[in-house]
Amino acid sequence: MRVLVLGSGAREHAITSKFAQSRRISGLFAAPGNAGTSQIAVNLPDLDHTDSHAVLRACREHKLNMVFVGGEEPMAAGVTDALIQENIDCVGPPRKTARLESSKTFSKEFMQRNRIPTADGRSFSDRQEFEEYIRNRPYRVVLKKSGLAAGKGVLESDDTDEMLAFGRRVLKNDTLVIEEHLIGYEVSVFALSDGASYCLLPCCADYKKAHDGSTGPNTGGMGAVCPVPWLESGAWNRICSEIVEPTFAALQREELSFVGVLYFGIMVTDRGPRTLEFNLRFGDPEAQVLLPLIKCDFGSLSEALVQGRLADFPIEVSQKSAVGVVIAAAGYPGTYKTGITVESLPESDSIRLFHAATTERDGVLSTGSGRCFTVVGIGREHLDAMNVAYAAAPQVKFKGAWYRRDIGGKIFGS
Ligand code: AMP
Ligand code: GLY
Repeated sequence: MRVLVLGSGAREHAITSKFAQSRRISGLFAAPGNAGTSQIAVNLPDLDHTDSHAVLRACREHKLNMVFVGGEEPMAAGVTDALIQENIDCVGPPRKTARLESSKTFSKEFMQRNRIPTADGRSFSDRQEFEEYIRNRPYRVVLKKSGLAAGKGVLESDDTDEMLAFGRRVLKNDTLVIEEHLIGYEVSVFALSDGASYCLLPCCADYKKAHDGSTGPNTGGMGAVCPVPWLESGAWNRICSEIVEPTFAALQREELSFVGVLYFGIMVTDRGPRTLEFNLRFGDPEAQVLLPLIKCDFGSLSEALVQGRLADFPIEVSQKSAVGVVIAAAGYPGTYKTGITVESLPESDSIRLFHAATTERDGVLSTGSGRCFTVVGIGREHLDAMNVAYAAAPQVKFKGAWYRRDIGGKIFGS
């Protein structure tokens, strides 16, 4: 197989690493890739991975027969539709299914009409209606920009003026979803789908808030664990039967079936699990802790997905635990600089280090994003994995580097 991974984040580095270990691979490319993927694949740094024509051209030029779409932008841009139309195997949904992620209005309505447990809520496009609702809100609410926002389109606040300002800003060019503020703890659930059947992977948890103790603004994710030691089996069973199963049945009914990954963002509340969001891809940083625990050949698994053979494919998963700590640039999730020289990286064999948008020129490694690296510890027990990750995290050195100190600790309800 000759495979192209689309994206440049730490998630895509983790995906590329899995393909690099596969015995089925005869060519491996990453577009645009990063300095980490360049060590295990051929980077196509000038390829715009949201441009269907450019991706198709690269497929022809490099004789690629499979594309694995890492993130949401190529899906929302219709790259997967173009690949499917040209009969190029693609792990990633068509745009009509990707709306479950790219439009929170669409996904809220999908959940409501299919009775998939979610927070009470509705969407607004009229400014006056929105302002009236906020001034008379019936309970504590969360405001969400409907379109893609890299984890930063959600406002959790009790301050009416702040809510009004946020909503007015969003309503200038998007719609707004307002829903009840749920209390509980969050888990990220991943299912692989071949279009006919699905298979669940071990549960992850993502630490979304910027600061220790889950305080501060929302981020794309500051760390993750897999599996989740505090998730009780009763809650897991309810997630499977009340959310996952009905969602896949609804996707079939509504002709939204797809080949790829379905990510359920779930809040486990006292009243049962509630769906916060769907994504049509692996999470970042969840992929960095989940993928190293998958033991079967990832190339063969991806082939089984695109060929509709998932039901017969034995997915083997390690019983170990993984904890991932994101090393961020000063200022993230607000404004931050890129192009900062990386002075040193951990060299230990006991960790996995995934790069995000790094570049290397003349032997100098530079940062390229707000979340710059994920350091992943793997151990027999959760605590071992935490210790391994935190022993290595301070060895990632660049000016302004910082990370949360409590990744792996239980996330209590907000
Ligand atoms: P979303 O993009 O919808 O997953 O929201 C991003 C983050 O905002 C979630 O991971 C939660 O931490 C928080 N959030 C979203 N919706 C709610 C809600 N209804 N209640 C409480 N927190 C929420
Ligand atoms: N970690 C959250 C996300 O990937 O959306």
